[in-house]
Amino acid sequence: MIEFIHISDTHFGPSKDMEIRGSIPYDRNSALVEAINSLNFTPDFLVHTGDIVNDPDDDAYQLAEEVLSQLRAPIHYVSGNHDDAASTRKFMTSGANVTLEGVGDKLAYSFQMGDGVTGVVFDAWVPPEMGPHGFLSQSQVMAFEKLLQASDDRFALFLHYPMVPIGSPWIDEHLLVENGEAVHSFLTGYSERITGVFFGHLHRGLQILRDGILYSGVSSPVCHFTAGPNETTCEFDSNCALAFNHVTISGHGTMVKEYSIPFQPVGRV
Ligand SMILES: [Fe+2]
Repeated sequence: MIEFIHISDTHFGPSKDMEIRGSIPYDRNSALVEAINSLNFTPDFLVHTGDIVNDPDDDAYQLAEEVLSQLRAPIHYVSGNHDDAASTRKFMTSGANVTLEGVGDKLAYSFQMGDGVTGVVFDAWVPPEMGPHGFLSQSQVMAFEKLLQASDDRFALFLHYPMVPIGSPWIDEHLLVENGEAVHSFLTGYSERITGVFFGHLHRGLQILRDGILYSGVSSPVCHFTAGPNETTCEFDSNCALAFNHVTISGHGTMVKEYSIPFQPVGRV
């Protein structure tokens, strides 16, 4: 049995007072850490599916590390569109992992989750001027295929961006993995060995079961996005609850418990 916590989109700024759409990430993320540390169990590990910071500067990463390192289990970090892989490596203390073969400087790696399940972190970052969508390189897909062939393990996949459409026009046009449909087709050939594909980026929780693949998104503790079926833009809700998911993977399948906790500021140090 594997128990982990999935968080995402903490959007730390360079100072404790930095505000983003009416929310102060430092205060909200500090409360998030306290809520997770107050659970009556200790997770095996956590995964942060990206947008650790709002802009990739050193001060923001240092503040993120100061807060997130208080979590009481190893954390695995994913590169979001607001992140910088080199800074994530430099400033964030990550759980033990092995870089995927042939992926260059991408933050793409595997790690042992236990119970015959391997975690694979993909880096689908593209330069900001290209847009907020992602793209998963062929080298990362090939590296994953090698892992599939090298063992009988099952796999959990982590990336920042949703792979498949969610039925909201603006999000589906701008925020997905650009080649997500092709990658999804590839994954369907291994659906019995994929325990889930976990992502952030949308700032809202959602679960999609498609062709036997579970896609599980977690919201942001900082602000939520709307995602209605007729929306041609995206609205923000900063007066939102703190969100994180507790994921259990066992021989029976994958279970996702969504937590939504009213925000109460904790005292600053
Ligand atoms: Fe984000």
